[in-house]
Amino acid sequence: MPVTPAAAKRIMDRIDELAKISESPDCLTRRVATREHRMANDLVASWMKDAGMQVREDAIGNVVGRYAAAERSTKTSSIMLGSHLDTVINAGRYDGMLGVLSALACVESLHEQNMRLPYAVEVVGFADEEGVRYQSTYLGSRAMAGRFNKLVLSREDEQGITLTDALTQFGTSADEIDSAAVNPDDLHAYLELHIEQGPVLENGNTPVGVVSSISGATRLMINLTGYAGHAGTVPMNLRRDALAAAAQCISIVERNCSTEAGLVGTVGRINAKPGAGNVIPGDVQFSIDIRAASDSLRVERVNTIVEEMSSVCASRNIEIDIENVHEAASVNCDALIVKHMQSAVASMNYDLITLPSGAGHDAAAMADIAPVGMLFVRCREGISHHPDESVTEDDAISGAQVLMQTVLNLCD
Ligand code: GLV
Ligand code: MN
Ligand code: MN
Repeated sequence: MPVTPAAAKRIMDRIDELAKISESPDCLTRRVATREHRMANDLVASWMKDAGMQVREDAIGNVVGRYAAAERSTKTSSIMLGSHLDTVINAGRYDGMLGVLSALACVESLHEQNMRLPYAVEVVGFADEEGVRYQSTYLGSRAMAGRFNKLVLSREDEQGITLTDALTQFGTSADEIDSAAVNPDDLHAYLELHIEQGPVLENGNTPVGVVSSISGATRLMINLTGYAGHAGTVPMNLRRDALAAAAQCISIVERNCSTEAGLVGTVGRINAKPGAGNVIPGDVQFSIDIRAASDSLRVERVNTIVEEMSSVCASRNIEIDIENVHEAASVNCDALIVKHMQSAVASMNYDLITLPSGAGHDAAAMADIAPVGMLFVRCREGISHHPDESVTEDDAISGAQVLMQTVLNLCD
């Protein structure tokens, strides 16, 4: 029972429609609990209803549609499909959205053909995977997995709005976060389709790949405090320049993360104050993001980086404050689901590539409460987290077909 041509056609149209919902007129940016998140959820909810689903929204802002199981089915759990609806700043349009809309196309196909499966099929659009607004990823999926860190609720965004206040403005309530947790017994499996965000499938000339594991990650927020002063009068050896110290710290991150394949480190955000050309920077805040497939390697390297940065700062008389804002262990995809996905790919006569994911995904958080599996869809030149992100319509449809076949395999 394939995805129908009508449902397949809607995937790209809807991705384009969602891409118009942005906080900025110049580029695609949609962060958690914003007006644009509200608009995206409402639009997706209307599509879910049209596909015969019952829709709910939970306290963190995940939108979930449920397509009931066949009437005589004895199964009480559901197969959940989905991904996230938030984006990075100046994002591409497929990261997250492709997974939600492919999932919706699967359910629409069942609905169009008046078919029910032994399991209910749920489609989720997670509220926050990217962690852009509050520097902590998987907010949506961790709330659903019952692993939400409530300390994040009092964290402020760049405008000084706490997550608690943002959720109130959004129309939900931080007090209800616990109720977003789903009972593990209610989930038979969680399946996520996502754009690959790397070049492996394109190089292998195949449209859809099966994910074996998802890398772990550490995100740190670093605050350096020196002393601001006159750029013309303070001699170099008497300065406490926080930005010069940050430059050395960034080199430490780059050097320590350049030694092993699969280990990566990024400083993606930096803010220097007071921010004038003729003032020595006294305060600097920057982010560090470190990933590796091996948790022990990642932890060991984070420790080394912290030690080296601390010693640089001590020698410069700069105070350093390090906050660990996100920690996620690496996760293996469920062996049986991987097999079902591999046989779905084989049934379509595509060359089979099974690959690890260097990027983080909601599936990693959902693995705490359900067996998880992931499909990757080929993208152009491996570009992602960039407006040039690109997936062909044919590949998107191939991905949705493999997802549908995986769901059917899980029902056998
Ligand atoms: C999510 O896109 C990530 O940062 O891996
Ligand atoms: Mn992303
Ligand atoms: Mn993503």
